[in-house]
Amino acid sequence: MEWRLSSLLVPFSTLLKHALSTTLIVSRSSVSLSYKVLGDSEMDVDEKAPPLFLFHGLLGNKRHWESMGKTLLHMTKRSVVVVDLRNHGDSPHNSSHRYDELAEDVIRLLKRLSVNRACLLGHSMGGRTCMCVSLLAPEKVAALLVVDISTASSPPFLTQYIPKVLNAMKTVEFNHPKTVRNAKDDAKKQLKEAVTDDMIMRAVLSNINIKPDKTIGWTCNLDALIKNFEHIASFPKEMKGKRYKGPTLFVGGQLSDFIPPDDLTKIRNFFPQAVVHYIPKTGHNPHVEDPETFLEYVLAFFKNVK
Ligand SMILES: *[C@@H]1O[C@H](CO)[C@@H](O)[C@H](O)[C@H]1NC(C)=O
Repeated sequence: MEWRLSSLLVPFSTLLKHALSTTLIVSRSSVSLSYKVLGDSEMDVDEKAPPLFLFHGLLGNKRHWESMGKTLLHMTKRSVVVVDLRNHGDSPHNSSHRYDELAEDVIRLLKRLSVNRACLLGHSMGGRTCMCVSLLAPEKVAALLVVDISTASSPPFLTQYIPKVLNAMKTVEFNHPKTVRNAKDDAKKQLKEAVTDDMIMRAVLSNINIKPDKTIGWTCNLDALIKNFEHIASFPKEMKGKRYKGPTLFVGGQLSDFIPPDDLTKIRNFFPQAVVHYIPKTGHNPHVEDPETFLEYVLAFFKNVK
């Protein structure tokens, strides 16, 4: 796992400075994220190119980006890393879930992997996290690609529907299921009234697994997500006045209302280079709904990033 990033290691003097600043960040605040470096030792990777880090949305996890990540690895020859954000997947749980903290978690992960500069790609909540990393530590970000989320507005789908989904998840009773499959089937029945959208249902059920205490249930930190929902649903005010001047692409779904065209002026206050592309006939998950077109945009965007 480490070999691929080893060539990104910096000279010892820099490393030392690194170690010092790492200590500062660690003592400031963050959790140790779970991640997976894709590919195998046979893969030929351009080790000078900034690696690409992929981040899931709310109720997602790093497995959701693995297949897209493998394609990107083969086509870009960059190292590709998929990550679980805090309170998701295999990453630690924490009662606090604010974008500045999610961003510090990512900055800490970059340090842990001795990555000086990275390409960031994030969907929805992961997109906002990547935006905050870019605003808080612009020198670490070679390029930023945000999938279907804005700095300015949040649609009713996020502010009204998703809280209902989270609350419905909270009411699910797991009656000592024998297998994860049984638990998912049972939960699906209990949720069918509240969760009307197939894509969300799939995301929701992907959070059922064997927990650290060996029981089967929700592996995401549902209580923290419910408690912090207002922080998830809006772009943090603390970012006001900050800028990331590097290459920035927003890819939205044309049928989604997560990036209203009118938001572009506000987005450019933070990201002066921002360009927005909409993928026709797709909603909030353009990378799932039309992966070919999505890939074309991603490849063209990262092609010349050094
Ligand atoms: C929870 O997150 C905060 C903010 O990142 C951090 O300061 C704190 O150490 C974390 N707590 C645990 C138990 O990891």
